[in-house]
Amino acid sequence: MLFYKVLILFWGCTRTGSHTRLFEKHIIFHIFYIITTPLSPPPPAKYGGRHTVALIPGDGIGPELLNHVRELFRFSCVPVDFEVVHVNSSSTSEDDINNAIMAIRRNGVALKGNIETNHTMPPNHKSRNNLLRTSLDLYANVMHCQSLPGVQTRHKNIDIIIIRENTEGEYSSLEHESVSGVVESLKIITRNNSLRIADYAFRLAREKGRRRVTAVHKANIMKLGDGLFLQCCKEVASGYPDIEFDSMIVDNTTMQLVSKPQQFDVMLMPNLYGNVVSNVCAGLVGGPGLVPGANYGRDYAVFETATRNTGKSIANRNIANPTAMLLASCLMLDHLKIHDYANMIRGAILTTMNETRLHTADIGGQGTTSEVVQSIMRIIQSGGPLTTEI
Ligand SMILES: *[C@@H]1O[C@H](CO)[C@@H](O)[C@H](O)[C@H]1NC(C)=O
Ligand SMILES: *[C@@H]1O[C@H](CO)[C@@H](O)[C@H](O)[C@H]1NC(C)=O
Ligand SMILES: *[C@@H]1O[C@H](CO)[C@@H](O)[C@H](O)[C@H]1NC(C)=O
Ligand SMILES: *[C@@H]1O[C@H](CO)[C@@H](O)[C@H](O)[C@H]1NC(C)=O
Ligand SMILES: *[C@@H]1O[C@H](CO)[C@@H](O)[C@H](O)[C@H]1NC(C)=O
Repeated sequence: MLFYKVLILFWGCTRTGSHTRLFEKHIIFHIFYIITTPLSPPPPAKYGGRHTVALIPGDGIGPELLNHVRELFRFSCVPVDFEVVHVNSSSTSEDDINNAIMAIRRNGVALKGNIETNHTMPPNHKSRNNLLRTSLDLYANVMHCQSLPGVQTRHKNIDIIIIRENTEGEYSSLEHESVSGVVESLKIITRNNSLRIADYAFRLAREKGRRRVTAVHKANIMKLGDGLFLQCCKEVASGYPDIEFDSMIVDNTTMQLVSKPQQFDVMLMPNLYGNVVSNVCAGLVGGPGLVPGANYGRDYAVFETATRNTGKSIANRNIANPTAMLLASCLMLDHLKIHDYANMIRGAILTTMNETRLHTADIGGQGTTSEVVQSIMRIIQSGGPLTTEI
């Protein structure tokens, strides 16, 4: 297996004309990668090397974008079958979401659209998305925000990995109004979960060859809660002397992001700051239609768009940008370790992005969803995969 990979690498490198040092670096990296345990191990493939993945179309543009993913996977002969589970805002019982959670437990992996949360429902109606993440203990939300070729933005060369604690903090759904007119909304920070997410961030930083991790907090005001989070980050950092560690207060972080985003490398933060900061970052590289997101736990992984919008107003009009969801499906293929398919589809997506005439309305063009998908298929058909698994 290792020999096989090395051969592919050698072939890939010589083909692109890179010199030997790059080749050696890749081999060392690959050996390291193979002998260390992965961050979230994927489930093994079934008979014939095929994988089954839970597919949750959700609301808004979710169903149409996931249909495009299925179309593209069929076209590219990706060895993945889907178990489709419908959960959407029109159901009031918890049966649907429980079925979805069971399907993810069965398959280990899911690709999902966002499920709309009705704000006017009583407080005991929890967000389905949040319920799914906490039930499966998907503690790490990871988003890689990168400038894309061909997309016009104010700032260039952005390359930030955001790691967000995904199960506690302000999303604990613990609120009460014991005294009329006084609401208490609990933010939970635990030492165990803070250490766990910090360790995840540093391991990922090391695996991806990153230089620095920045913890984002508001410990000057929430001295105990954010203070504990920051303390845990510092403790974990001391075990990773090869990676630089610093911290930044959340308000300064948002200002620094919009004025000089290139200064950030890996960012690590509790739940709500993660939500705000990842939306700022998605905006910086072109908007919610472009950035994929992933949620990892010890046992399960769920892939979706990074900003978790439903895009209800543009649903079923063939104008939504499919890029974020398609890239999310590539992250899923990477998780399943079928990297050749992931790289082939990702390459075709990025080449298509670079064609301004195909841009959808969200990034200033007039292209349609299906035109983008067709262009991706044409590129795959003309190029074909770089390597094929035996
Ligand atoms: C909502 O989910 C139900 C199943 O629970 C499904 O029959 C229906 O088609 C879904 N609606 C939409 C708009 O996807
Ligand atoms: C939200 O919930 C309220 C009360 O249960 C209901 O009247 C309303 O139609 C719901 N809205 C949507 C968009 O489902
Ligand atoms: C924290 O983790 C340790 C070790 O896994 C466990 O023994 C302990 O009970 C946990 N503490 C809490 C408060 O969950
Ligand atoms: C905000 O961050 C910048 C960049 O790291 C730093 O130079 C500056 O001192 C910080 N400002 C405040 C008020 O903390
Ligand atoms: C994008 O297109 C430009 C010219 O149109 C080309 O120079 C550049 O290499 C392309 N970038 C990618 C990543 O394909």
